[in-house]
Amino acid sequence: MLTYLTSAIFTCLFLAVPTTKGHNPSLPQSDVNLLEFPLNLEYLEAEFFLFASLGYGLDQVAPNLTGGGPPPIGGKMANLDPRTRDIVLQFAYQEVGHLRAIKNTVKGFPRPLLDISADNFAKIINDALKQTLNPPFDPYANRLNYLLASYIIPYVGLTGYVGANPKLQSAQAKRLVAGLLGVESAQDAVIRTLLYEQPLQKVKPYDITVADLTDRISKLRNTIGKQGLKDEGLIVPLELGAEGKISGNVIAGDRDSVAYDRSPEEVLRIVYGTGNESVPGGFLPKGGGGQIARSYLS
Ligand SMILES: *[C@@H]1O[C@H](CO)[C@@H](O)[C@H](O)[C@H]1NC(C)=O
Ligand SMILES: *[C@@H]1O[C@H](CO)[C@@H](O)[C@H](O)[C@H]1NC(C)=O
Repeated sequence: MLTYLTSAIFTCLFLAVPTTKGHNPSLPQSDVNLLEFPLNLEYLEAEFFLFASLGYGLDQVAPNLTGGGPPPIGGKMANLDPRTRDIVLQFAYQEVGHLRAIKNTVKGFPRPLLDISADNFAKIINDALKQTLNPPFDPYANRLNYLLASYIIPYVGLTGYVGANPKLQSAQAKRLVAGLLGVESAQDAVIRTLLYEQPLQKVKPYDITVADLTDRISKLRNTIGKQGLKDEGLIVPLELGAEGKISGNVIAGDRDSVAYDRSPEEVLRIVYGTGNESVPGGFLPKGGGGQIARSYLS
């Protein structure tokens, strides 16, 4: 009886210990770090898609998920037709879910400072084209520009999830990453499919086609990622297409059409836009959050 009571009391005490909701204390620290890292990209995607479709971001939609981090710089409602806006809003809410799924598994960190301003996208496009566009590229100006700006974002998360997967130890972390990867990959495919409807259309008022611009953006990412070919535009030389037999490239993949992988370091070089995981900039002007990103910042 005494033993029963004691154990009952212990059980009650144990249950009463305030645990952080859903956090699994048994996850290896390396899994925790690898699950926290993609929060940087999920915050970016959530804010970019929310602002574009609603004109406001996480502070209105899910303030709990911000962890009190600063609001993003330069978020804006995009000039979209109703159907595209509907798709972007679906993506936006999916990213809110991704943030919650990660934060229910690991503690995470507050939203880092994000720069989703038109200026930042204009700079990326200038870097990709190695020239200064005039007028500057405006991601929020119209449907096509917004889709091109979106081409810049989920694909990096996708390659990061593919890269994280073989490094994970626990079944719980692998399950979560596979689930996040599936949806990121689907978002990228939708964006690419919409752009592939008119690959030879000019991106007004510039003298460049949609396909060429995606090619330049992908080449820029290959250059600053510094690990070779992991990114491909919508139209590629035959040898890069599926089975080396087709130049249409609505979905990117390697020789066997297996998705490319990127390490956190490569992801940081790209989202910072600096080609150096120790030099913040671009979408994350003060650097990313979490142990992996912070370890490169002094
Ligand atoms: C946000 O946090 C508050 C207080 O912890 C809670 O009452 C509320 O349900 C949470 N909202 C969401 C959307 O999770
Ligand atoms: C990256 O930046 C750090 C800090 O400025 C510098 O020490 C390092 O040499 C740079 N790495 C490369 C490969 O340029």
